[in-house]
Amino acid sequence: MSIPPLIAYTDRWSVRAGGSIEVKVSCSSANYRADLVRIRSADPNPAGPGQLFEDVPAAFEGSYPGRSQQIHNGSHGIVPLAALPQDWTLSVRVQPWLLDGRPQAILSWIGGKGLALYATASGAELRVGEAVCRVTTPMLERRWYELRVICSGGSLRLVQIPLTMDWGVGDGGEARLSVTADPPTTMLLAAAPVGAGPVCRDHLNGRLEHPLLLQGVVDAASPIEPAALPPTALFAWWDFSLNIPTQAISDRGPHGLHGELVNLPTRAMRGASWRGDVLRWLDAPDQYAAVHFHQDDLYDCAWETDFIFDVPASLPSGVYGIRIISGNEQDIVPVFILPPAGTATAKVAVLFPTYTYQVYANFERDNFDDSFRARRAEWGVYPYHPAEHKELGLSTYNWHADGSGVAFSSLRRPVLTFRPGQMAYVDRKGSGLRHFPADMHLALWLDKMGIAWDAITDHDLEREGVALLSRYRCVLTGSHPEYQTLATLNFLRDWLAEGGRLAYLGGNGFYWRVATSSAVPDTLELRRSEGGTRAWAADPGEYYHAFDGGYGGLWRRQDRAPQRLVGVGFTAQGRFEGSHYRRTEESYAADLAWIFAGVDGDCIGGFGFSGGGAAGFELDRADPVLGTPPNARLLARSEGHQAHFGVTLEDLLVPTAYALPSNMPDPLIRSDMVYFETAKGGAVFSAGSITFCGSLPWNNFDNQISVLLRNVVTRFMTD
Ligand SMILES: [Fe+2]
Repeated sequence: MSIPPLIAYTDRWSVRAGGSIEVKVSCSSANYRADLVRIRSADPNPAGPGQLFEDVPAAFEGSYPGRSQQIHNGSHGIVPLAALPQDWTLSVRVQPWLLDGRPQAILSWIGGKGLALYATASGAELRVGEAVCRVTTPMLERRWYELRVICSGGSLRLVQIPLTMDWGVGDGGEARLSVTADPPTTMLLAAAPVGAGPVCRDHLNGRLEHPLLLQGVVDAASPIEPAALPPTALFAWWDFSLNIPTQAISDRGPHGLHGELVNLPTRAMRGASWRGDVLRWLDAPDQYAAVHFHQDDLYDCAWETDFIFDVPASLPSGVYGIRIISGNEQDIVPVFILPPAGTATAKVAVLFPTYTYQVYANFERDNFDDSFRARRAEWGVYPYHPAEHKELGLSTYNWHADGSGVAFSSLRRPVLTFRPGQMAYVDRKGSGLRHFPADMHLALWLDKMGIAWDAITDHDLEREGVALLSRYRCVLTGSHPEYQTLATLNFLRDWLAEGGRLAYLGGNGFYWRVATSSAVPDTLELRRSEGGTRAWAADPGEYYHAFDGGYGGLWRRQDRAPQRLVGVGFTAQGRFEGSHYRRTEESYAADLAWIFAGVDGDCIGGFGFSGGGAAGFELDRADPVLGTPPNARLLARSEGHQAHFGVTLEDLLVPTAYALPSNMPDPLIRSDMVYFETAKGGAVFSAGSITFCGSLPWNNFDNQISVLLRNVVTRFMTD
């Protein structure tokens, strides 16, 4: 796979007016043009509101020389080496996860003819220059081994020792090389160098623990326990249980040969000595001294900056795009511009759920087929798809090549799902949009209604806290604010408690915990722990984030169910298809009449550009047991959902029963639209469905959902 011929990313996704954004471009042509647009709409469906871009003058506008920038995938470690004693022993524990014939370097030395250890399905292999020896007993996937290289008397001995339980499989053995290694300068972990480096090849898919260099010959048959060694025996001990939240590699030996990890391998992983008596790495870091490396990890493309977008303080807040054009190629990178620091320029803010955009970044759904490609061509959908560009890094909704789940997502790369005109589903009833392009339905609706709004994002909320929200009378979420850190969830809660007014216009929001880290900027970590509706499953004992030690998974499992914040929470999911709501009897109460003023009929929202209905795909329900406030008013409930909808997994105890007795025998497949007021003049409106905003543009923005939301936002804006 190769990088798209013209593609860019920015050093940040949002900035306040008066700030600046660095733009990094890879262009295979001789030059390209760059300019600025305001993105008003991002829907490629010719029957929908379209893609609307307005030209905006910008100082960076102009022509630039093109250059191809590279991406080097694959995580590994780099440590320096010092002059070795005459006799030495090199040892490392390895757990290979993918032995399908592709070369898997466990470690390698740079210097002279080099030295490299490889894992193969037929046994460990030692290479020195052109000389190779291999143990003749197999290595098995997901089984721990200690590999030892002993240098003595002008030859090298390779020893393979199985560490995990004995399955009756003979997978220990030895091999010899009658050469010695040249003095090395550097050691790579989980990779081999291309030439003298720093580019690597043969990335390991699997785990390493306790790389060691020891003085003299250690040829005991039993595995080496580094903590039990006398300090005088150590030449170097790279102990991965130290500095787990960072990318630092610390050497506990006398020479201080500290190094670093590259491209975000996963830390806080169970090592060979994990016993199962501890489930949280902070309680016994020594049991979590393993690092899981992947050939497809990617943290930072580290492209050179082509130009800087200095945002004038006078530029109105909104969604903009940095457009680059070369020949027939075009890329538009969205950026959110906030008002100048300390100010708001509207009563309403749209809180774009950029953490969720980031978690889904470059998600390769399993639907990239002929019908997708046909619609892509027919509609002029954004031309690049994650399935065709894995070099841009995976999504946390995907697996690594070795079958482990992807736990990190970085902004330091082009994100194909964060583009105007990108499509997620072939939607027979609508546009099939998710995330950024779907949320632009809401942004365009505000423009059409003449409601002034500012753009803010999850990233800004984390940076600025409650102060960001409290400048607005009313904050609107996008269609899917699923992922929250402890900080963003608390800021929203605290702002509501002080009188904030929130319109939650999506489904499956406030659902899953993620972590950020100052040691690894621009990255989210998540663990797909225990149960819940999820793309992969973390392994036992690996449910706590390496970044912050927080417990990964559903907020519901940490007594922060979404119902406590917004009155509704995830209840059911089907394919990307929608239905309608039906008003409740309660909704006809006189004190709720303002919400439905001008909304015709009892059955509402059976139309839309997302799955053909305002209540669809992912649905939320009110549930007092999970925290829906007692004063919440049920305005409408969806019905008529297709047979492919099912209840969330966290609501099932056994396949035929629900987790909460209060729900039985309710099928739980419904969206609840609720409204409630809070103590200090605040209020919450929740739509309870991920496809709600897709109905706003229907019939040229003249429809029941549009009228209803206009009533809510108008009321929320008043003092
Ligand atoms: Fe989601």
